[in-house]
Amino acid sequence: MAYTLEEIRSRIETVVDPSRGTTLKDTNAIKHLGIDSEKNAVVLLLEIGVKSPEYTAVMTRLIAKIIKMDLGFAGVVIEYEQMRIPGLGKQLKILGIASGKGGVGKSTVTANLAMALKEIGKKVGIIDADVYGSNIPKIFDVEDQELQGTEDGNLYPIVKNGIELVSAAFLMGDNKVLMWRGPMLGKILNVFFKNTLWSKDLDYLLIDLPPGTGDVMMDVKNLVPDAKMVIVTTPHISAASIAIKAGFAAKELKQDVLGVIENMAFFEVDGVRHDVFGKGGGETVAKALEKDLLGSIPLGQPVSGHHSLFAPSEPIGIVYLFLARKLIKLMNA
Ligand SMILES: Nc1ncnc2c1ncn2[C@@H]1O[C@H](COP(=O)(O)OP(=O)(O)OP(=O)(O)O)[C@@H](O)[C@H]1O
Ligand SMILES: [Mg+2]
Repeated sequence: MAYTLEEIRSRIETVVDPSRGTTLKDTNAIKHLGIDSEKNAVVLLLEIGVKSPEYTAVMTRLIAKIIKMDLGFAGVVIEYEQMRIPGLGKQLKILGIASGKGGVGKSTVTANLAMALKEIGKKVGIIDADVYGSNIPKIFDVEDQELQGTEDGNLYPIVKNGIELVSAAFLMGDNKVLMWRGPMLGKILNVFFKNTLWSKDLDYLLIDLPPGTGDVMMDVKNLVPDAKMVIVTTPHISAASIAIKAGFAAKELKQDVLGVIENMAFFEVDGVRHDVFGKGGGETVAKALEKDLLGSIPLGQPVSGHHSLFAPSEPIGIVYLFLARKLIKLMNA
């Protein structure tokens, strides 16, 4: 029996992309569908979240079963394409900063890592994914700014210190775009990932995640499955135990955890370290996740006089440069 292209499409669209956990219909993954009538074969171009031999082998098997056994074609030719954020180059690396527990310094670490990456010569953007507790605009002193959009619904990021920023805080407030209120807020991450007019040569996109281990991590997984994660904790055991949960959640979502950063690690006076927030949290999390402790950031305020951003020449700024170099290596490994 002959099937129409629409029928074939709807059958294939039921297959789940194992790298995202969503069906091909959900992600509109079929970019081309045709029939080679000479060979009685279906020809497909598919966009997959992570184009790895492991995932494409699973997909090919599932799709071949439908095409050959259920629909009776002789063969199927599938070409896979790695999903990309529209408009961004292949060099882009995406890094989520997660912690589980709130207040351990995710936003501060995100912002200062971005500054360090920029100092090293990289082009950096930040997505503030903490929709209800946005800190990034305050850290960069741009909380009164509004995102400008284009008629077709795209957004220009706010640029501060050479870093491109998007945050829900730029869309809300007294005289800001009303259409973003209410239900649209839930879709905001989608918009940030897919409709932001980042510079095309962006190298790193950092995502400041909200506390917790839940929905937002899953959204990030669906939207950008090849994003890597770092886990931030303090030395205190209560922060560490929740950071471990965040790390396991990321691992369960098959997201690559690069390592652990211990923040507020100690307070140093005259060369003597005081463990004001306890000791060992970073090591504990790293061990539990079987990852490295990438570095420890001491307690301290910027000497530059800024409330959150450290200059690259001051001691904590140097720690961030060291961490940024390590992350660059890990992300390009
Ligand atoms: N190493 C540090 N030394 C001293 N203060 C710090 C350090 N890191 C962060 N802070 C301060 O701790 C507070 C919490 O930091 P931050 O907002 O970055 O945490 P967060 O994990 O993003 O919090 P939330 O869960 O609310 O988003 C801020 O006031 C910040 O300036
Ligand atoms: Mg924060």
